[in-house]
Amino acid sequence: MTPPALRAGRDEDAADFIALIGACWAEYPGCVMDVDGEVPELRALASYYAGQGGALWVAEQDGRVVGMVGTRPLGDDAPGAAWEICKMYAYPDQRGSGLARTLIDTAEEFARAHGATAMKLWTDTRFDRAHRFYENRSYLRDGPIRALDDLSRTLEFTYAKPLTGVVVRRLDAAAAVSAIPRLATVLAECVNAGAAAGFHAPLAIDRARATWKRAASQAALGEKILLAAWADGTLVGTATLDLDMPETQRHRAELHTLLVLPAARRRGIGRQLLRAAETAALGAGRTLLVLDTPAGGDAERLWRAEGWTERGTVPDWSRTSDGAPEAATFFWKQVG
Ligand SMILES: CC(C)(COP(=O)(O)OP(=O)(O)OC[C@H]1O[C@@H](n2cnc3c(N)ncnc32)[C@H](O)[C@@H]1OP(=O)(O)O)[C@@H](O)C(=O)NCCC(=O)NCCS
Repeated sequence: MTPPALRAGRDEDAADFIALIGACWAEYPGCVMDVDGEVPELRALASYYAGQGGALWVAEQDGRVVGMVGTRPLGDDAPGAAWEICKMYAYPDQRGSGLARTLIDTAEEFARAHGATAMKLWTDTRFDRAHRFYENRSYLRDGPIRALDDLSRTLEFTYAKPLTGVVVRRLDAAAAVSAIPRLATVLAECVNAGAAAGFHAPLAIDRARATWKRAASQAALGEKILLAAWADGTLVGTATLDLDMPETQRHRAELHTLLVLPAARRRGIGRQLLRAAETAALGAGRTLLVLDTPAGGDAERLWRAEGWTERGTVPDWSRTSDGAPEAATFFWKQVG
């Protein structure tokens, strides 16, 4: 069998599209397809997207379409700013091969080249495997569930992500839960590259996920604020503010887990996360911020450059996996 090759989708692929989408929907109970009643665009899909300024690609293997993706400008934001990923499908035997990743990367590249600054998509709430795929591609849940008045009684999640530049966002409960896979990757990669984040390396991805699952619940309860940073469409950094203080200290918060993936460092992302954390703290009525950081580490320069005050060093604050003591320096900053 030859490996699948990408090419532009054509209107004449209609029968293949209907077969592929029908097979994917059939994996989920209650998902039924009425082409002419509900998805008539499938009869001439390339023209449909081209007419809206978008595009369509297929992966073809031995003369058969085995994967597809489309994209189009949404036009509901600033002109050309947000584009949609549509009709992202691959047959089950193609999954895990990297084909879907290649397809979505191609669509994002096209959107970016045509002025997109953000991507959005709608996905059936039943398509749980697709959710993991989008979450690993740095898309997060965004806003309420959408109900379609269709034969399948479809409810859809919205997923979105910024596509260009460095963007920092505060995560609400739905976004925080959907960020777990990506945040776990950031945490595990940073710890395994030597970051002090309260874990010994190597940190297994399951433990990292469990950590963010807990943090997402705490964010939902208002005990934590979670921030995420994207660089050119990839979630590469995070910061956590702990708001859960004794009743005499509800004017303060602790900054934890400021992390940027090693490959994305020294681009100002840590600084942007730190500033966003300070703004978010103030918004939550917290005017005093405190953090501890490995004594003598590179991060100390960031705190000093951002006006944090050094408050001394505690020896034996943490221990390496061999039991060796490590000192921490404490910093504080009054905001507002
Ligand atoms: C600390 C950390 C979050 C900084 O992220 P970053 O995106 O690289 O930071 P920035 O690019 O915004 O750097 C801002 C400033 O911090 C200082 N800085 C950051 N990393 C530095 C380094 N390796 N060497 C020297 N200065 C450094 C510099 O002053 C830098 O400004 P400059 O690039 O204009 O000189 C990142 O290095 C990291 O994740 N480290 C591991 C985890 C960690 O130690 N977190 C802090 C726990 S409290």
